[in-house]
Amino acid sequence: MPARPTAPPAGGLGWANLGMDIVSVTRVRRLLTEHGEEFFGRMLDAGELDDCRTSAGLDLLGLCGRIAAKEAAFKTLRVRHVLLPWRDIVVRRADGGWPVVRLRRRAAEYAAQAGITEITVSISHDVDYAVAVAAPILGDPVPPLTHPSPEQSAP
Ligand SMILES: CC(C)(COP(=O)(O)OP(=O)(O)OC[C@H]1O[C@@H](n2cnc3c(N)ncnc32)[C@H](O)[C@@H]1OP(=O)(O)O)[C@@H](O)C(=O)NCCC(=O)NCCS
Repeated sequence: MPARPTAPPAGGLGWANLGMDIVSVTRVRRLLTEHGEEFFGRMLDAGELDDCRTSAGLDLLGLCGRIAAKEAAFKTLRVRHVLLPWRDIVVRRADGGWPVVRLRRRAAEYAAQAGITEITVSISHDVDYAVAVAAPILGDPVPPLTHPSPEQSAP
């Protein structure tokens, strides 16, 4: 098998190292009960924890979803025998509600080596499990669509 699948230099239409992960809510609940929020401070930065916070404390499903998203994003990097600091992959909630991934330090280096400029993730959770799927994005980000203002679109 080749050492590490990386994006073809020409751009690689159709190339995607998907990643996915599943997290048991029961296991994370136990960790939260036994070790408290500080335990997750090693895995999530302050902003990520804030995204999981409710008036009643940390939202367990949100927490599980973010952990799954980090692992799913990690899997797209296709690195072997490597452990990354959890906070190298940051998963924040965008204003629209969807998750956004930011890569830092070694995660960013591994991504760059593989031709990955960004990673997109999707999270889902139910009572017992949270899952996330991740896909790498290659090349320059596409600028967002701009919608003409009513004045501009008027004849
Ligand atoms: C290798 C690793 C990704 C497997 O994940 P896991 O949660 O233990 O197990 P899962 O059931 O979710 O996934 C297992 C599958 O991952 C896949 N896998 C194994 N190694 C992998 C790698 N280096 N990269 C991507 N996928 C890998 C395999 O398909 C495996 O299935 P198989 O055992 O049937 O072949 C995990 O042990 C690991 O090393 N994680 C890195 C931890 C880390 O640094 N996290 C920081 C994230 S920011």
